[in-house]
Amino acid sequence: GSRNGSAGQEAKATAALRKAAASEGIGLGLQYDPAARLYAGACASCHYNGKALNPLRPDLALNSAVSMDDPTNLIQVILHGVSAADGAPGVVMPGFTGFSDADIARLAAWLRKTRTDKPAWADLQNKVAAIREPGRAQGKGE
Ligand code: HEC
Repeated sequence: GSRNGSAGQEAKATAALRKAAASEGIGLGLQYDPAARLYAGACASCHYNGKALNPLRPDLALNSAVSMDDPTNLIQVILHGVSAADGAPGVVMPGFTGFSDADIARLAAWLRKTRTDKPAWADLQNKVAAIREPGRAQGKGE
């Protein structure tokens, strides 16, 4: 379906993009922040679109996964990617299982901080571990 909703939604999208563009100066210009570097290397090729809005490759400021109360969705997406069945037809995002729990936690926290006004997620690294390997994080729970 179309991602262009009401005018109100568009105004919200514009504000979110402005915020993302403002933080992008830090994120992609001076890449001292390790999370910004991770993002630039692994995600920005598809998700950085400061110039134009490509509806198939949304800026993450527009995505609910970064602004939810629970980080599970975002962690799932980073770990497992998005298949064509989940998203728009014909587009896929690879999973990043090669990233360490710490890297994913760092990246999720950074996206949260630079893309939203919401409070930081707590205990991210343990959540990543639990989602990656439910048995391990909950003890010997299988
Ligand atoms: C090869 C291109 C590509 C790369 C690299 C990539 N993505 Fe994506 N990403 C996509 C596509 C395509 C979608 C699906 C868009 C849609 O259907 O709405 C997506 C969707 C997402 C979503 C929304 C998922 C949802 O359920 O709506 C998030 C969050 C996301 N990506 C984060 C990331 C992060 C973080 C990275 C880096 C670790 C990354 N992506 C790297 C292409 C990519």
